Order: sequence, then structure tokens, then C-alpha cells
Amino acid sequence: MIYPSAVQLETVNVCNAKCVMCPATTTSRPHSTMSDAIFDRIVEEIANFPTKPRVSLHGTGEPLLYKKLGVRVRALTKHGIPVYITTNGSIMTRARAFELIDAGITAIEFSIESLNKEIFERIRVGLDLDEVLANFLSFVELRDKLNPKITIGMVFIAHDDNADSLAEYEAFFERHLSSDDELTVVPRHNFASSYDSHAAPSNIPCGFIVNAINIQADGIANLCCVDSEQTYALGDINKNTIMEIFNSERFNEIRRAHAEGRRHSLPLCSSCNVPEVLTQYKRRTLPAVGILGKIRGMQHGAVRPSERLASVRFWPKVVISEPRRK
Ligand SMILES: C[S@@+](CC[C@H](N)C(=O)[O-])C[C@H]1O[C@@H](n2cnc3c(N)ncnc32)[C@H](O)[C@@H]1O
Ligand code: SF4
Repeated sequence: MIYPSAVQLETVNVCNAKCVMCPATTTSRPHSTMSDAIFDRIVEEIANFPTKPRVSLHGTGEPLLYKKLGVRVRALTKHGIPVYITTNGSIMTRARAFELIDAGITAIEFSIESLNKEIFERIRVGLDLDEVLANFLSFVELRDKLNPKITIGMVFIAHDDNADSLAEYEAFFERHLSSDDELTVVPRHNFASSYDSHAAPSNIPCGFIVNAINIQADGIANLCCVDSEQTYALGDINKNTIMEIFNSERFNEIRRAHAEGRRHSLPLCSSCNVPEVLTQYKRRTLPAVGILGKIRGMQHGAVRPSERLASVRFWPKVVISEPRRK
């Protein structure tokens, strides 16, 4: 029996933005919110795991649209379970910030692709950079005052159009965040062929499927966060436990296919180009485990991503003006 070290729960699958690279607004799944019954069943099970997994409360959608997010964070942290969210920051009011900090959230990532208003708003359609930055800086200020132990992350999804501004972005990160905060650089990927991206699909075994379980708002465990359309429905929390799903023959057969170099035989995995190594920058290195580092390979360090990537250059070749779907 293996236990997941990360449990990803999609609290809501709706969003208030239409980002050019994200399936949140084009998904064919009905809009839904994870019910209390499903959530409570999951908490009861993972609270008894020998080692507490790290739990995230976002999926394909904006977690702050869920009004009881603070209540759910608290339901996990009261069992000593570390919790984080990734947010677009657009509705992180002072009151919501206080609610999450008070509920004991462990870490929070803000997805901000650019400090240039025109580029940001071309990528994050429907959002206003000035509002997002004001909310972000207000959250940082409140965190510094109320609980400096909370890790704040900035996530930079690299598109061709913003990649050149990474150095300026790093300077902003260094100016406003502390030495334990994290900057993660993720090359834009193709969401398993949903969007154009010229990076080649990977054929190395995926780290996600051995470490993490992803549960969507309706209680279905799909393969991973890239599987937004439920190509794989590996189990249903209304009927199965997390451990039954995570240790099922079907899940193990997918892992075997990856381990034996047969990843290309799987419909979703054959076209997925999520990079296995992401780049994370923390001014204070070590411990070398970040928000995403437990799930995927991670290049950590005090070397700025722009310096590291100048030699590696692994951006997928994509432009943000392309049609949204293939
Ligand atoms: C799906 S969003 C959900 C949380 C929240 N709405 C947000 O924007 O942060 C989670 C993360 O996926 C990232 N993302 C969306 N589409 C992507 C793509 N094609 N390639 C890489 N990352 C992507 C977002 O930028 C965000 O950091
Ligand atoms: S990346 Fe986040 S904010 Fe943008 S559409 Fe997707 S879920 Fe919404």
C-alpha cells in the first residue's frame, strides 16, 4: 500500500477569468462545488494517514470563489495537515486574506504572469493587474504582521511574450517577499493537447502519479491536474476511499506503463508536455522542498531562474495570441 504525499482537491471548477492557456472556462464538465459530504469524508480519511499529506484546495477554477474556503482550510489545519492554494489574486480582499491567515493556511501562491499591464491582461483575460497587485501586496503586509511563517509564492507561467521580463519580475519578488518565499517558473504546457505548445511531450515516468491524488469537485479522482476533462475516472469518493483508488490495479497499471517506457500508449500521457523539472527560486535555499517540489522534480536554489534558464532555455515555443483551442 502506498500513501499519497499530496492530495489535490478541486473545491470549485468555476472561474472569474478566461486565461488564454487554461481549460477552466472551456471545460465541458458542469460547474460545481465540492460538497461538504465529499470533503468531510476525505478529511476523515487523510487525518489518519501515518504521515500527513500536503493538501491543495484549488483545481481547474478560482478557489476564492468558494465562500467557505476559510472553513475548509481550518478543517484540515486543525488536524495538523498542511494546506495551500494557488489563486489568481483578483478577489483576495483584506477580509479573505485575514480569514485564510486566521484559519492557519500553510502557503499561498499567486499566479501573476507579468508586471506589464498590457501583457498580463492579454494572458489573464478579465482580470485587472492593478487590482491583483494591490491585493497581493496587501496579503504580504498582513502575512508579515500576523504570521510570517506562511509561505507566499509567485508563479510565473512562461509564455514567449513574457519570458524576457523574468529578470524584472525577480527584482519585484526580491523587493517584496522574504527569503523563505518562493518564485516558481513553469513553462506554459499544452494541457495534454488542449492548447498549442511546441515543446515535445515527455516520455519519462511522471512524478505526479506516484505522489499525488487529484479529486475533482464532483468527487471523481482523475489522473492528475492536467486531466481536466476526466479522460481517466479512477474512482469516486462517494463510493471509494482515497487509499482504494490510489492503490487500485488501474492506477498501478498506469504507473507500470510509465515505469516501463510505455507512457506513449496512454491517451492523455502520450501528448502531455508538462516539464518534469520545474524551477523554483528561494533566496534562502534549503530545505529544498517547495510547494510543488514534493510532487515533481524541482530545481531549487538561490540562483535566479533567469540566470539558470539563460543556459537551459526550455520554454515551450508558444505565443499568447494564438487561438485558444487546437
Ligand atoms: C488552473 S490554475 C487554478 C488556480 C487559480 N485560478 C490560478 O490562476 O492560480 C492553477 C495554476 O495552473 C496554471 N496554468 C494554467 N494553465 C496553464 C498552462 N497551460 N501551462 C502551465 N500552467 C498553467 C495557472 O497559472 C495557475 O498557476
Ligand atoms: S489559470 Fe486560474 S484564473 Fe486563469 S482561467 Fe485558469 S483557473 Fe481561472
